[in-house]
Amino acid sequence: MGKIFVFDHPLIQHKVAMLRDKDTTTKDFRELVNEIGLLMGYEATRDLPLEEHEIETPIAKTTVHMLSGETVAIVPILRAGLGLVDGMLALIPNAKVGHIGLYRDPETHKPVEYYCKMPEDIDKRRIFVVDPMLATGGSASAAIDFIKQRGGKDIVFMCLIAAPEGIKELQKNHPDVDIFIAAKDDHLNEDAYIVPGLGDAGDRLYGTK
Ligand code: PRP
Ligand code: URA
Repeated sequence: MGKIFVFDHPLIQHKVAMLRDKDTTTKDFRELVNEIGLLMGYEATRDLPLEEHEIETPIAKTTVHMLSGETVAIVPILRAGLGLVDGMLALIPNAKVGHIGLYRDPETHKPVEYYCKMPEDIDKRRIFVVDPMLATGGSASAAIDFIKQRGGKDIVFMCLIAAPEGIKELQKNHPDVDIFIAAKDDHLNEDAYIVPGLGDAGDRLYGTK
């Protein structure tokens, strides 16, 4: 079974608290998501593989450890997942970025796909699927299905707020996937929104409501 990591770092908790506040502006919300993406990305990349290289410092020859060449792909689930990409890219500028377009049907709460474009060598990369919200788990499960259909194997999921229902669903559908979470919330309401959550992540990021 994939592991679950809930980040209890005070900086992350503080920024998530600010995100939840309904009075946080679109600009601040976007900046906070970006900052949390960077902080979570730092921790979530802890076990990336390193390889040895011989280099010369101004003083002596030495062996150093560097990331092996083509290691990472970041795959945001559109739209809200886009908010987490820049923070991750600040850490790993050579990462490739795939995109999966999914939205939740407002009646059925099931994900509907509208776009999917992956790097060609996705099968060789550690894939960070990013989306601020894990609610029913339908979108994350479908996104990871698409990635696996295109050859992706080494996949982790990173989100800001997760409901217990979503964690359970994702673990059931993809037991091989580790899940990184900034905050685990209480439950879903009748509209499948996370309680207490932060509302609609896409609308709050882009000011569409
Ligand atoms: C939100 C969120 C996730 C999904 C989570 O996206 O960003 O992708 O809902 O819900 P689930 O776990 O129940 O599937 P939304 O469908 O609102 O689309 P948007 O990002 O385009 O606003
Ligand atoms: N999608 C969101 O943006 N927020 C939720 O609480 C649930 C799904």
